[in-house]
Amino acid sequence: MSENLIFNGEKMERKKIALIGGGQIGGVLTQLIAQRELGDIVLYDIVEDLPQGKALDIAEAAGIDLFDVVVKGTNDYKDISDAHLVIITAGLPRKPGMSRDDLLSTNANIMKTVAENVKAYAPNSIVIVISNPLDAMVTLFQEVSGFPTHRVMGQSGVLDSSRFATFIAWELGVSVKNVNAMVLGGHGDTMVPLVRYANVNGIPVMELLERKYNSAEKAKEVMDAIVQRTKMAGGEIVKLLKTGSAFYSPAAAATAMAKSILYDEKRVLPTCAYLKGEYGVDGYYVGVPAVLGKNGVEKIIEISLNDEERKMFENSVNAVKSLVADMKRLGY
Ligand code: LAC
Repeated sequence: MSENLIFNGEKMERKKIALIGGGQIGGVLTQLIAQRELGDIVLYDIVEDLPQGKALDIAEAAGIDLFDVVVKGTNDYKDISDAHLVIITAGLPRKPGMSRDDLLSTNANIMKTVAENVKAYAPNSIVIVISNPLDAMVTLFQEVSGFPTHRVMGQSGVLDSSRFATFIAWELGVSVKNVNAMVLGGHGDTMVPLVRYANVNGIPVMELLERKYNSAEKAKEVMDAIVQRTKMAGGEIVKLLKTGSAFYSPAAAATAMAKSILYDEKRVLPTCAYLKGEYGVDGYYVGVPAVLGKNGVEKIIEISLNDEERKMFENSVNAVKSLVADMKRLGY
């Protein structure tokens, strides 16, 4: 793994990325990361032969997609040794009718084992957690591993924001590339899509909607529906798939975060990050805009919220707090 390369006479080492969980998200993550050549990949799963099969299948596309990274599947945590970045998807997905919180105790058990092994084998890694219920799982990972909080984060806001931006783009008939839209708070039904900051190349979305419908009232109605769909978007996919939850878009979201970290891009991405007083929250993981670079979460960006937004944000923070309290009550 991570063979030494010679580039312009200098020794270079490819980064090593460990993916814990060889399910649907893990498979897509492997493919996206390989195609982008972000680093050598180890795909771990507890199920015998499954990660080996997926890794081999993806590796055999190298001659078509023309990537030079190593893709390896394993059932042995030793193989994640010294990974630079670890992305955790291990856990069960939601079934129709289940909330993300219903998964709490099942996935907490899994996450505890994962955290112990990541701590043992990749003690210096930066970690992105995707497993649900996200806000609790990222908290548990940090507590069990004892990793510094800037090296442990959760993926939720990049996906929720992409959903929000996509729905806005569809509504306005413009490219999603020009839509900036952000969702804050926890990864649950209380998440806070920030309507006031949503814009198309700097033009407020509400202004464009009012122009489209020639009515402030209708514009608000349309935006309310977009906000509602964004909040329920995970459940909408679960209902359609019937056997699991979204996986293409969560994998894409974590890949964007991984790239910002590995390439030290310092992108400002909505991240489930540990707050130490920012936004008036102390000691909890909550979705906020953050600068992601080679050190992990390098900076939390604070933005001003009006009374209504602050109330919604506080409501979401309270939902995260009660989820974490439930987890503690269960003994984690
Ligand atoms: C979703 C699940 C994966 O938002 O949390 O689709």
